[in-house]
Amino acid sequence: VKVGIVFGGRSAEHQVSLQSAKSIIDAIDRTRYEPVLIGITEQGQWLLNDATDFLLNATDPKTIELNRQGQPVTLAAGDQRGSVIPTTQSPINAQVDVLFPVLHGPYGEDGSIQGLARLANLPCVGSGILGSAVGMDKDIAKRLLIHAGLNVADYEVVRNGQLTEALIERIETRLQYPVFVKPANMGSSIGVSKAENREALITAVADAARFDPKILVEALVVGREIECAVLGNDTPEASVCGEIAANQTHAFYDYDAKYIDADGAVLSIPAAISDEASERIREISKQVFTTLECRGLTRVDVFLTDAGEVVINEVNTIPGFTKISMYPKLWEHSGLPYPKLIDRLIQLAID
Ligand code: DAL
Ligand code: MG
Repeated sequence: VKVGIVFGGRSAEHQVSLQSAKSIIDAIDRTRYEPVLIGITEQGQWLLNDATDFLLNATDPKTIELNRQGQPVTLAAGDQRGSVIPTTQSPINAQVDVLFPVLHGPYGEDGSIQGLARLANLPCVGSGILGSAVGMDKDIAKRLLIHAGLNVADYEVVRNGQLTEALIERIETRLQYPVFVKPANMGSSIGVSKAENREALITAVADAARFDPKILVEALVVGREIECAVLGNDTPEASVCGEIAANQTHAFYDYDAKYIDADGAVLSIPAAISDEASERIREISKQVFTTLECRGLTRVDVFLTDAGEVVINEVNTIPGFTKISMYPKLWEHSGLPYPKLIDRLIQLAID
């Protein structure tokens, strides 16, 4: 079975995608699957197999380290040395049996490549167009979760940078500081900031607006950060829960705490929470998966408050798959080793 692994891409999570793809390429069972490498540059050029090497294996001064838990990995800055390959060898013409998009963020996790796969009549790992699109947009996802009676953090939407006086007042009275400011469509905490006052709010909105014209301003939820990995289609299964404790030197679990700072965060798997709380989070995670029309896989990130309330933070329909990422680790601890997990994901797409 030829598996077209698609990675890189035009989103700000390009570098994370490269690391996720490397882990998958390393772990895929080659007795069953033949990986076909399809790389997309930050500018949107598509490259096939050997031509993707400069993305996956680049080492240049622009590289950054992904080294939490003492495993140094080089992140490529993705320059253009690979150049465009002739259209006759276009990856779109590559013969594959199934597509495995390992793209995070817009232009991949959002339904775009899922749409391309559908047009080409190709099975595609993970959620389809709808689940991907609603999972990517934090505002739409919240609206559906609220409709399903699930808890999410209170929020306001800022469109096109229009942070009017009235909206600021609503934020200050209804949400109160500190608030989290996030691009509606992005991941890995890129463009996210915590704002403690009006001045910081204005700066944070301007910063988030670099990534998306739609921005969320969310109330702070005080609670432990718990993540659960969901796998399946119509009858999804939930993994054990994991907990993330960001190092106090970071204002929250930001990009640096995730990927740059070796001591940025501690992952505890299974999370040291009560069986009852864990069971409830697993049930809610499956409900979130179904509510948002997910398929294949999704990581559900929640807060568990002191009062025992579960508040859904967000979903990731193509969660990080790097060597240090939660989704594969949660399944490993649930008895599904990495290569078997990849196998399951491909079979879920084909069946
Ligand atoms: N968006 C990143 C990849 C994650 O949630 O894991
Ligand atoms: Mg995310």
